[in-house]
Amino acid sequence: MSRVPGAPRTPRPRRYLLCAPRYFEVRYAINPWMRADVPVDTGRALAQWESLVRVHRGLGHTVETAEPVAGLPDMVFAANAALVLDGRALGSRFHAEQRRAEAAAYGVWFAAAGYEVRGAASVCEGEGDLTPVGGVVLAGTGFRTARAAHREVREFFGVPVVGLRLVDPYFYHLDTALFALDDENIAYYPGAFSPGSRAKLARLFPDAVIATRDDALAFGLNSVSDGAHVIVAPAATELIGELERRGYLPVPVDLSEFHKAGGGAKCCTQELHGAPPAPPLAGA
Ligand code: ARG
Repeated sequence: MSRVPGAPRTPRPRRYLLCAPRYFEVRYAINPWMRADVPVDTGRALAQWESLVRVHRGLGHTVETAEPVAGLPDMVFAANAALVLDGRALGSRFHAEQRRAEAAAYGVWFAAAGYEVRGAASVCEGEGDLTPVGGVVLAGTGFRTARAAHREVREFFGVPVVGLRLVDPYFYHLDTALFALDDENIAYYPGAFSPGSRAKLARLFPDAVIATRDDALAFGLNSVSDGAHVIVAPAATELIGELERRGYLPVPVDLSEFHKAGGGAKCCTQELHGAPPAPPLAGA
């Protein structure tokens, strides 16, 4: 479909699940960003997270929240908890021992909200490595989510899955290197992917927004788009310019405290894709 360059984009209302960073800290290191000797300012983290929630709601989106659990500092990264499509949730199985208990905590939320929940049998880190775009799911592997989990996604949801190999430890999750702009297009940093995966992406998304390494290192690709507005790290300046040229509306939100744990806006935002679960029948 052709569009006039720079013409306004159409946002679609979204439902998100977030988890307040009440117990957020960096006290173990499971990716190259994390350094236990760099303190987290918990008050600042909470203020940044609250502004993210305000921005989501201000754009007209629904924000649900899961209750944080003491001793699970990375639980703030709600995107890692599951992949949710049309009332069904594939719950995560975390790679790092330190994060495994998050799966049960989020499972409780999904079950209470009426989702049909299945726990992944292989290592699977939810939207950290799984990005629905259009009718397919782009699926990262290499550092966290296992290839076997891609097969689980395909079977459980009945969707085509496109496997992508991540090769740079700074971009250990797919959502640090790529995000969906809308149902048709993505933005990504090619250097995070193996040559074969780069070729696949170029073939599938010939008009993709290509980001620089600097923008990727600034967490520019850990963005959340509603099809028009793109919540983006303010330091990803080249990317912001390119998004504007393409007719998107960048909304810079500073989440720098979370960069210390290797996360940004998208990591904090689980999208509840598709229709919510049907409410139980009265009297049933
Ligand atoms: N410290 C967390 C980890 O290494 C950060 C996760 C960030 N989330 C994301 N979706 N990339 O697992």
